[in-house]
Amino acid sequence: MKTLRVGLLGLGQIGAGFYSLLASKRDFFRREIGISIDLVKVAVRNKDKKRKKSVPKSLLTENAFEVVRDPSVDVVVELIGGIREAKALIGEALTRGKHVVTANKALLAEAGDEIFDLADRKKRWIFFEASVGGGIPVIKALREGLVANRIESIYSIINGTSNYILTRMTEDKSDFREALREAQEKGYAEADPTLDIEGIDAAHKLAILLRFAFCGNVRFKDIYCEGISRIRSEDIAFAHEFGYRVKLLAIAKASKEGIEARVQPTLLPESHILANVNGAFNAVLIRGDQVGDVLLYGKGAGPAPTASAVMSDLIDIAMREAGRLNEEALPMRAIRRPLKIKNISSILSRYYLRFHVVDRPGVLAKIAQVLGKHRISISDCVQKERSAGNVVPLILLTHGAHERDVRNAIRRIDRLDAVSGHSQVIRIEQ
Ligand SMILES: NC(=O)c1ccc[n+]([C@@H]2O[C@H](COP(=O)([O-])OP(=O)(O)OC[C@H]3O[C@@H](n4cnc5c(N)ncnc54)[C@H](OP(=O)(O)O)[C@@H]3O)[C@@H](O)[C@H]2O)c1
Repeated sequence: MKTLRVGLLGLGQIGAGFYSLLASKRDFFRREIGISIDLVKVAVRNKDKKRKKSVPKSLLTENAFEVVRDPSVDVVVELIGGIREAKALIGEALTRGKHVVTANKALLAEAGDEIFDLADRKKRWIFFEASVGGGIPVIKALREGLVANRIESIYSIINGTSNYILTRMTEDKSDFREALREAQEKGYAEADPTLDIEGIDAAHKLAILLRFAFCGNVRFKDIYCEGISRIRSEDIAFAHEFGYRVKLLAIAKASKEGIEARVQPTLLPESHILANVNGAFNAVLIRGDQVGDVLLYGKGAGPAPTASAVMSDLIDIAMREAGRLNEEALPMRAIRRPLKIKNISSILSRYYLRFHVVDRPGVLAKIAQVLGKHRISISDCVQKERSAGNVVPLILLTHGAHERDVRNAIRRIDRLDAVSGHSQVIRIEQ
């Protein structure tokens, strides 16, 4: 029987989920896998806080460093979140010879290079399956199951909050604010939803996927990031008229000139498999040069799915410690060369453009002229009936165009007298 002594940092949503999972499955792991996972200490911010599941007071400490410095701890499970403290605690744990399991995507996206370097130097394992896609085993798929493939692209829905909001806007025709409020009431969105609705959380996860899909280091600031807060219900309705749905996608695509890495609201054909991933669900569509398309779909957040991923990492470490798995048997992709990320201005895409224009003859021609001057050709066009205030929505879909040209054209168009407010630009993927 291999025993793994665990120090847990955090007993919040995921920490408590992990604690419950361990309590219910500990005997199963001992019996079926021959691994005993023993919880030695648990760090929280406030020992006296009322918790749904009671934890023996003797296990709790308010000093997280006590956990990472405890010589009897083999593995530190970091579930406190945030960057500064979590980084210091993980650094200390690795330095003291402990393996680490974390769900902290923000930390790995912002400081992954340093942390992975330290783990390498100290010859310790750091596992982080729960950091992307909650319970979906996407890191294992990239590192192990798809190791024989050159990854060509990843299209993913990896922020459940945004996907929930967009789904409500699509199905109930609610506006962004109403859908956000509902997501908050149901516990899918934080009181401060910025990280989710501005695409930052998805970009954190994409940074981690890029590292293992394309075998290299990524600077987080090189990832283009745009959230859903500017999507209006009219965009969802117009997209539907053209046969599309709006989804927040995290996209990585390999090309000769570099890797496209972007988080953005996207129009997807209604028949696209990701267009039908709804509510708080996540999905990652990976294309490998040997396997073709692989779709991973499931719950991307929440205590039970996320704790399932944390536990799988712990079992993995226990098996390695027991000599039942080794690095050669489960290759980690090399993660050491800097990846060349393409600047967003050089990407080629189709676009959905929505303008609010004064309803008078010649406006469409003027806009088409500006687009033409910037080498952008129109593939479809809808102008709506006159509404209040003599301003009507005009929607254009384009053929493939360069982002740089589209931005320049939109800047010019937004200055036209006949155009009111800022125009909407959403990229289209097939
Ligand atoms: N929520 C999800 O669905 C989800 C999914 C995937 C990944 N994750 C990641 O999992 C991690 C944890 O998320 P969460 O939602 O469980 O967070 P959470 O509910 O806010 O819980 C944080 C926990 O950490 C404790 N804590 C915070 N700072 C501490 C410190 N300095 N020392 C000791 N304890 C400290 C808190 O103690 P008190 O309880 O005493 O306040 C609390 O128990 C984050 O990195 C998050 O990104 C979350």
